[in-house]
Amino acid sequence: MSLSEDPEESRETEPMGKSDEERLAKAREKGTKLGIPVTRRHIFLCADPTKPECCSKKRSIEAWEYLKGRLKDLELSEQGGVFRSKVNCLRVCTAGPVAVVYPEGVWYGLCDPPVLERIIQEHLISGKIVEEYVFDRSPLNHEETVPLAINGQHPPCESSTHAGDE
Ligand code: FES
Repeated sequence: MSLSEDPEESRETEPMGKSDEERLAKAREKGTKLGIPVTRRHIFLCADPTKPECCSKKRSIEAWEYLKGRLKDLELSEQGGVFRSKVNCLRVCTAGPVAVVYPEGVWYGLCDPPVLERIIQEHLISGKIVEEYVFDRSPLNHEETVPLAINGQHPPCESSTHAGDE
């Protein structure tokens, strides 16, 4: 496979070069400014999607602007412990705007500004889930990294603490 001169293109076998290390260092610096090392909760919101299916584009943009503004006003974003991400689609595509908060893995629907305000105050700040708007859960706060099954088979795992191991 011929490799491109463009460092943005993926390389499958090339060892990491100096420019990659520099780019990673730059990303680390940017991440530190954004508050990655101090993040305690991460909220993803479907907003301005290419194919607006969970709600209208306008409604999702209003929700995103509200979330972003409130997190900034309350000094929760950047160094405040809450990381926010606008995503094109969370694949649920109904009952939007849709949001998910990690590490609890709580999925919320109908996230218009009044609901987002409750999620900010009750969940992001106080750690209390806003049950009325939850439609699913999938917590990711595992104590350790767990390998996933591929085609139903778990790869060998030294700690072998996952379910299904014999
Ligand atoms: S369009 Fe919002 S979740 Fe898919």
